[in-house]
Amino acid sequence: MNIVIFGPPGAGKGTQSNLIVKKFNLHQLSTGELLRKEIKNKTELGNQISSIINAGNLVSDEIVGNLIEKYISNKSFNDKIIFDGYPRNLIQARYLDNLLNKYNQKINIALKLSVSLETIKKRIFERKTIESRADDHEEIAIRRYKTYENNIKPVIDFYKQSNLLSVVNGEATISEISNEISGLIEAIKGWH
Ligand code: AP5
Ligand code: MG
Repeated sequence: MNIVIFGPPGAGKGTQSNLIVKKFNLHQLSTGELLRKEIKNKTELGNQISSIINAGNLVSDEIVGNLIEKYISNKSFNDKIIFDGYPRNLIQARYLDNLLNKYNQKINIALKLSVSLETIKKRIFERKTIESRADDHEEIAIRRYKTYENNIKPVIDFYKQSNLLSVVNGEATISEISNEISGLIEAIKGWH
């Protein structure tokens, strides 16, 4: 079972992925977290990408593509990945499809968390006081939201056409959303 979870900044991708990995024994692959780790460790890659992330723009498809291949090719994660924040554009969606094909895997469900910009602002404002993420300033969060809006439509269509898309109301409580997602995953597990 491989899962894609996507949605705007603050939609709850990380929160819900965390709950899903525990419940279904999967592994979370958050490209955002992997990139932040590179920045924190001051690696060459980290230095290269920090200004892009802190401006709320997308890192190159090639960089994130390399990061995800490391996971997909790893046998211990075989058919057990939840992709948190990947893909973010059509090139990435196609790349992921091809990569999974290469390793005899596929996506079983793509979850879209929908939330309004008002909710996003509120959540990110609150998280800022706890996590102090460099890209959690209001203007940058709005920029991240716009980046999302500018790129995501073809990704939505891509998964819709493959009959993999499930839209989840991200405005509900964390446990309500988690219950809904669990139900969707269990329904799929029942088919296989
Ligand atoms: P990334 O780290 O993925 O950031 P993001 O997409 O902006 O999303 P967030 O992590 O901010 O939000 P989330 O949806 O995980 O919400 P969370 O669960 O934390 O990416 C960062 C950057 O990396 C990108 O801008 C880009 O530069 C780069 N990048 C990453 N992937 C890339 C890719 N594929 N290609 C190119 N570049 C890439 O929740 C937010 C807060 O709300 C938390 O405090 C949480 O407790 C709270 N909360 C969650 N759910 C609820 C709820 N239901 N009710 C109330 N509060 C809630
Ligand atoms: Mg996140």
